Amino acid sequence: TASPSAPAPDAAALHDSAFLRACRREPVEHTPVWFMRQAGRSLPEYRKVREGISMLDSCARPDLVAEITMQPVRRYGVDAAIFYSDIVVPLKAIGVDLDIVPGVGPVVAEPFASRADLDRLPELTAADVPYVSDAVRLLVAELGATPLIGFAGAPYTLASYLVEGGPSKNHERTKALMYGDPELWHALAGRLAAIAGAFLRVQVEAGASAVQLFDSWVGALPLADYRELVQPHSAAVLDAVADLGVPRIHFGVGTGELLGAMGEAGADVVGVDFRVALDEASRRVGPQRAVQGNLDPALLFAPAPVLERRVRATVEAGRRAPGHVFNLGHGVPPNADPAVLSRVVELVQGAG
Ligand code: CP3
Repeated sequence: TASPSAPAPDAAALHDSAFLRACRREPVEHTPVWFMRQAGRSLPEYRKVREGISMLDSCARPDLVAEITMQPVRRYGVDAAIFYSDIVVPLKAIGVDLDIVPGVGPVVAEPFASRADLDRLPELTAADVPYVSDAVRLLVAELGATPLIGFAGAPYTLASYLVEGGPSKNHERTKALMYGDPELWHALAGRLAAIAGAFLRVQVEAGASAVQLFDSWVGALPLADYRELVQPHSAAVLDAVADLGVPRIHFGVGTGELLGAMGEAGADVVGVDFRVALDEASRRVGPQRAVQGNLDPALLFAPAPVLERRVRATVEAGRRAPGHVFNLGHGVPPNADPAVLSRVVELVQGAG
C-alpha cells in the first residue's frame, strides 16, 4: 500500500512524462512535442471564445485561460501545455498602462525614458495576479499527467516594449538607453528581472512543472554586449525559480551567436530557432543542456512530403543531442492549418 507521502498516480506519471524526461536529458520513448503559440488565432475554437473580449481581459479570467490553454492539448495531443497569458501581463498587473493591439502587439501608453520611470516598476507579488494562480490550479487538475509550462518575458525583450512603446524592428531607443546610460539600463533590467522572476515563481508555486523564459528579441545584440548587459539579468530571472526544481527553458529568435551564453544564464534547455542546425546548436549549448526546436514555421505551408522529410530530419538530429523537445523555430503563424500541426505531432510522436 502507498505510504501517505507517496505521490499521487498522476504526479508519478507527470514526473515521468516524455517532456519532463527530455528536459532532464533522460531517455524517452518518443520525442516530446509542443508548439510555441499553440493556443491562439490559428485555432477556430480560440477565435470563438475570444469573440468580444480583449486579449488582456481574457488573460485575467481563469475560466478562459484554462479553456484556451487546453484547446491545443485536446486537439493535438501535444506533450505539454503552455499557459495562456502574455509577457506583458505582469507589467499590466503592477500598473503599467499598456494594451495588446490585435495584429500589432503590446503598446505602452507612456514609454520609459528616464530614472523617474523606474518608480513605475514596483515588485510583483502573487496578490497582484490572483487570476494566474487560480488558472494554473484549474489547469493542473485538468491536465493530469500532461505538464504545464509557465513563462515570462526576459528583461531585454520586456525593456524593448517599454522603451520603444511597442514593437520595433531595430530597437534604436532601447539600444540608445542601454549603451548611452548603462547604469539606468542595469536598474531597469534589474526591476524587470525581479518582476519576471516573481511571475515565474507564482506559476510554479501554483503547480506549473516547467518554465520558459522568452527573450524573443535579444538576437539583436552581439555576444559581448549580451554578456555584459543582459545575461546577468536573465540569470537572475532563472535563478528566482532554481530552488523549485523545475526545468528552465530559455528561448530567443536569431540567437545563433548567443546560444552558449543563454545556456550559461541558467537554462536546462535552450530553445533554438530555425537558423542554426539542431546538431550545431547542441554543440554550442554543450552536453549538460537539452535543446528545443527548431522546425521553420514556414515549412507548415510546404508540400506534405517536404514537411514530413524536414520533421523526420529534426527528430533524427534531436536524437543525437543529450535531450530534445520538438518545437517550431518560433511561434505558430496565425494562418497555419491546424490539420498540418496535427500531422506534425503524429509524425514526431510516432517516428520509430
Ligand atoms: O500558446 C502560447 O504560446 C501561449 C500564450 C502566449 C501568448 N503570448 C499569447 C498571445 C505566449 C507564450 C506569449 C508570449 C509573447 N508575447 C512573446 C514571446 C513569444 C514570441 O512570440 O516570441 C512576445 C514577444 C509577446 C508579445 C506579443 N503579444 C506579440 C508580439 C503579440 C502578437 C500580436 C499580433 O496580434 O500579431 C501578442 C499578442 C498575443 N499573445 C496573442 C496571443 C494568442 C494574439 C492576440 C489575439 O489573439 O488577439
